[in-house]
Amino acid sequence: MHKRAMVIFGATGDLASKMLFPSLYYLDADGLLPSELSIVGTARNPLDLPARVRALVAERVGESFSEDVWARFAKRLSYFAGDAQKEDDYKLLAEKLQGVEETIFYLATSPDFFATIAQHLNGAGLSKAPARIMVEKPIGHDLASCRKIEAALEDAFGEDRIFRVDHYLGKEAVQNLLALRFANTLFEPLWNKDSIEHVQITVAETVGVDGRWSYYDRYGALRDIVQNHLLQLLCLVAMEPPADLQPDSVRNEKVKVIRSLRPIGADDVERRTVRGQYTRGFVGGTEVAGYTGEKDGRESDTETFVAIAAHVDNWRWAGVPFYLRTGKRLAERNTQIVVQFRPVPHSIFPRRGLVANRLTIRLQPEEEISLCIMNKTPSLDRGGMQLKPLSLNLSLIEAFKRTRRRIAYERLFLDALAGNQTLFVRRDETEAAWAWIDRIAEGWQERDMKPMPYAAGSGGPSSQHALTERHGGAWIE
Ligand code: BG6
Repeated sequence: MHKRAMVIFGATGDLASKMLFPSLYYLDADGLLPSELSIVGTARNPLDLPARVRALVAERVGESFSEDVWARFAKRLSYFAGDAQKEDDYKLLAEKLQGVEETIFYLATSPDFFATIAQHLNGAGLSKAPARIMVEKPIGHDLASCRKIEAALEDAFGEDRIFRVDHYLGKEAVQNLLALRFANTLFEPLWNKDSIEHVQITVAETVGVDGRWSYYDRYGALRDIVQNHLLQLLCLVAMEPPADLQPDSVRNEKVKVIRSLRPIGADDVERRTVRGQYTRGFVGGTEVAGYTGEKDGRESDTETFVAIAAHVDNWRWAGVPFYLRTGKRLAERNTQIVVQFRPVPHSIFPRRGLVANRLTIRLQPEEEISLCIMNKTPSLDRGGMQLKPLSLNLSLIEAFKRTRRRIAYERLFLDALAGNQTLFVRRDETEAAWAWIDRIAEGWQERDMKPMPYAAGSGGPSSQHALTERHGGAWIE
C-alpha cells in the first residue's frame, strides 16, 4: 500500500464501473495521478477487481488503451471484500490501510448506506484528518434523510473534509459558464430582469433507466436531476459575481440563489410543474420499453420527466421565469441553457421577422455557444428594410481542438486530491435544495398529481407547453 489511498465503496456499481475507474485510468495515462496513490475498490462479494476493471476500462477507452498505462494502473489497484453495513469489516479495512497516511473514501453506493459507512469509518478510526470523503448525489431522499446523513458525515469528517459530488460541476462546459459571465464585460450589464425575459434550462436524455430501476423508482427525475444538476446550473446562471474563486466565495453566492427560489407547494404545483413518465416508443429508430415495462410491467407513479416554472425572488431576477426541465427517453440528448433577451423597446423596422436576441449555451452533446442577433438581409430593400436573425457561433471543441472530452469525474478527483472544494457542493446548498424540492414532492402528493404519459422518443408530455405559454414564451428545442 502506498502513502495515499482512494477507497471506492460500491466498486461493482454502475457509477464506479462506467465513470470512476475509467476516470482514474485516464488521469494515470496523463501522468496526473500522484505516484504514491493506491486505489482500493470495495464491495460485498469476493471478486477479481483488476480483471473486471481492465475489461471495463478497455471497453471505454477503446483504441487508446495502453498496456503500459494499464500495468502502472493495475499496480495501484486492489480489492477489499467487505459488507459496508458490518462494523467488524471496517477493522479489517483499517488493517489493509495500515501505513497509509492520507485516505479519500468515495461513496458510490446508494445514499441509504452513507450514514452507516461514515459512522463505521469513524468507529474504526479511519476518518481522522487528513482523511476525506467524497459522496455522490443525491444525499438522501428528502431534507430529513439528508440531515441524518449530514450529521453522520459531519461527526466523522467535518465540512472541510467532505466533498459532495455533483458531476455537472466537473464538466468543462459548466465551468465555462463562470468564464462566460465573469471573464467578459459584455453580458454582465445585461444579465438581469431589465434585459432578460426568461431563462430555460434543459437536461434531456435519450437513455432510459436501464439497470437502475430499483434506485430510480424511489427517486424519480425530481430528486435524481432537478435537486442537484439542474439547480446547480440555475445557480451558476443566476448567482451574483463572487469576489474570487475561493470555495466559499462561490458557494456563498450559489446558496443565496437556492434560498431565493420561490417555494412551489400544493397551491401551485398544478400550474407551475409538469410530471411525466415514458411509455413504449422509438428512440433513434429502435423500439424501447416504457418505464414500467423495464421492470416486469410493475405499476409505478415515479416521474421520468419534470418541467418547472421557477422564480428567483431577488432584485436581479424579479419577474423573470426560469423554466427548468429534464427527462429520460426523449427524442435527443441535449443539455442547454437558453437566455432569452427582451425585444427591442421600440422598433423602427416592420415588426414582422423581428426576433429578440437569444444566447444559447449548449453543454451536451456538443459544447457550443451561440448568440442570435438581427441582421439586415442584403437587398435593395425597395419594400422596406428586410431583416433576418443569424447566429454568432462558437464551438468550444473546434476552438480548442480537443481530442477527448474529459470525464467530469477526472477533474473532481484531482480537486479532491488537492483539497479544493470550489467544485463541490456545501451542506447548506444541499439542504436548501432539498427544502425547495420537498415542497414540490409534497404538493404532488397532496394534489395526487400523477405523471402524464409520453411516448419514448418524443419531446415529453405536451402539458409542458402550458408552463411557458402562460408567460407568453415557448420552449426552444
Ligand atoms: C446522473 C443521474 O447523476 O446523471 C442519471 O443519476 C443521469 O440518471 C446522469 O443519466 C446524466 O449525466 P450526464 O453527464 O450524462 O448528463
